[in-house]
Amino acid sequence: MKKPGEVFADASVYDPGIEAIVPRYDELHDTILNAPPHDRDEPVSVLELGAGTGELTTKLLTRFPESEVLAVDHSDRMLEQAERKLATFGDRVALESGAFPDDYPRADGEYDLVVSSLAVHHLDEAGKRDLFDDIYDSLAPGGWFINGDVIRFDAPHLETLSGDMIENWVRSKGWEESEFMDEWEASDDYDDPSTLTDQLVWLRESGFEAVTSIWQYYNFAVYGGGKSE
Ligand SMILES: C[S@@+](CC[C@H](N)C(=O)[O-])C[C@H]1O[C@@H](n2cnc3c(N)ncnc32)[C@H](O)[C@@H]1O
Repeated sequence: MKKPGEVFADASVYDPGIEAIVPRYDELHDTILNAPPHDRDEPVSVLELGAGTGELTTKLLTRFPESEVLAVDHSDRMLEQAERKLATFGDRVALESGAFPDDYPRADGEYDLVVSSLAVHHLDEAGKRDLFDDIYDSLAPGGWFINGDVIRFDAPHLETLSGDMIENWVRSKGWEESEFMDEWEASDDYDDPSTLTDQLVWLRESGFEAVTSIWQYYNFAVYGGGKSE
């Protein structure tokens, strides 16, 4: 039984597989890493939610060489892949098994940065709102939350446009979408993307300031906000 967000039955195909079905996957990650106000050489304490196989984690630890990252995920299969990949970073990274928002790691208090990529859209509205509250509470003054994720359009024709765009993307990688889904055992997980507008409002309501969208490509967006000093 797959957990929400695992995408593939076999976690070892996740890395090449996700790039074939998420358009501009690297650009989305790059934007998440470009958005925080912190300098490269600052000792940044980071919480990553839904780290999966550790793709964003690797880029984060490289981009911020003085950072320490706690990477959380509810999938042990994904964490196994991440563990192998991240071993080279030693004790700068810790992996934790848990499902947010219920198991949100508050123990050590204040993070300078909370990031997530392609994970939060698996929560319903109440789950997202609870999570945004938890993130806000766990951030140090001046800290930031940046999320890169799937969003939903209210307008049906824009949902159709996004679906067509993804189909074309998969085709450009040499696959027909249905064939790809069968071959790679990818599934429609429990997805519940919310509109970007709703999420920006919920972030404001959780207390975030400077709430904004930073990047968008059809139904993928990078957005977030900061906690005042
Ligand atoms: C599509 S993958 C994204 C992985 C990685 N962030 C990336 O950019 O490639 C989503 C990940 O979020 C995890 N996930 C989804 N919902 C979660 C939840 N409520 N708690 C913990 N992990 C969750 C899944 O297990 C999966 O590893």
